[in-house]
Amino acid sequence: MGLRRRTLGSRLLTGLALVSMSICLVLLHQLSSPTTQEAKGGGERSNEAAIERRERHSHRYLLMAGNSGRSGGSIPGTAAIESKSHMTANANRTGENNNNNNNQSQQMAILDRRLPRLLIIGVRKGGTRALLEMLNLHPNIAMVPVEVHFFDKFDNYQKGLDWYRSQMPLSTDGQLTVEKSPSYYVTPEVPERVYAMNPHVQLVLIVRDPVTRLLSDFAQIEASRAAQNLPNRRFQDVALLPNGEVNTQNRALHVSLYAKFLSRWLHVFPRRQLHFVDGDRLIHDPYPELQKVEHFLGLDHLIRRDQFYFNATKGFYCLTGTATPMDQLLLSNESSALNDDHVNYSHHHHHKCLAGSKGRRHPQVPDEVISVLRQFFAPHNRKFFAMVGQDFHWPEQ
Ligand code: A3P
Repeated sequence: MGLRRRTLGSRLLTGLALVSMSICLVLLHQLSSPTTQEAKGGGERSNEAAIERRERHSHRYLLMAGNSGRSGGSIPGTAAIESKSHMTANANRTGENNNNNNNQSQQMAILDRRLPRLLIIGVRKGGTRALLEMLNLHPNIAMVPVEVHFFDKFDNYQKGLDWYRSQMPLSTDGQLTVEKSPSYYVTPEVPERVYAMNPHVQLVLIVRDPVTRLLSDFAQIEASRAAQNLPNRRFQDVALLPNGEVNTQNRALHVSLYAKFLSRWLHVFPRRQLHFVDGDRLIHDPYPELQKVEHFLGLDHLIRRDQFYFNATKGFYCLTGTATPMDQLLLSNESSALNDDHVNYSHHHHHKCLAGSKGRRHPQVPDEVISVLRQFFAPHNRKFFAMVGQDFHWPEQ
């Protein structure tokens, strides 16, 4: 009897030891090997994988999740736990008595800070924030909530990739980190610097009618001037010279010369690594534009139409059901992720609209001024369409 109890006891202990060992083995494997997506990417991704390993940030987090479901969210984490099923499969092979522990190991995921695989490089006032927030509905996307300005600001760039990585959100290895800083597009040094980080990084540029973009930019500049108690100016006095010609020295106007900047990027990156989003379409019907980005990234179409609704008060699409309890937990632990400058977030209703700095009233401008600007931009636009291989149909008169 005593002997049987001892045997039972020792079997139980052996079983427990095996289970713990198998979990440790799986975790060790995860800590020492490239991420799943890197492995999937094979040779193409190997360079980045090497950088990832070399630069890997020391803080890792083991996430225990009660529920792997997610209806889209602001902070990475939960859904990618599902992609951790390969961990469970390994665990099953390494131990015999761990069936009861499957649920437990299924609920574990390692959170880490990963360098971006996708950069939204611009264009300023093109709809970059809306695009980022909408893409973040995808369970395999982890967005950087703030603009890091790593590649365009020399002081930041000097801090090195370790610093850049430390600015990234926690993500699981099934997720793709996305950062957006619109000034990347127009800053001469940026393409080379991005290439040095990862020559295979994917790039998205969101553009809209260059005249509308200019009006939007002007509205933003005037808002910040007003905040500094500087006098308001008329749009036409800034965009045109006294003789009625276009003021080509104006900085905001330059940003709308999309082709000029694109040639720099195409000098460094092959066309297939760039995707162009129609910012005017994103405003009126975001879903098809997002599907195209999912396709470009090779992601399953997991962003759903019912995750947006048109908010008549705001005059724009807002996001619904964006935060699970897990997202909120991560959110509170992680950072002041949703900057009030950019997003209005209702914790009660889980609805999210972009803040008042998006969707500003544009200045009232005489038709002749608009027409002069459209004619000025027309040849530049045609050049841009040819480079991109896509016609955005911006008016020429
Ligand atoms: P306006 O303020 O001129 O309307 P960015 O985020 O790059 O600064 O771009 C701001 C622009 O995003 C806004 O310009 C707005 O038109 C556009 N936008 C697109 N979708 C939006 C949305 N769902 N909510 C608010 N603004 C949106």
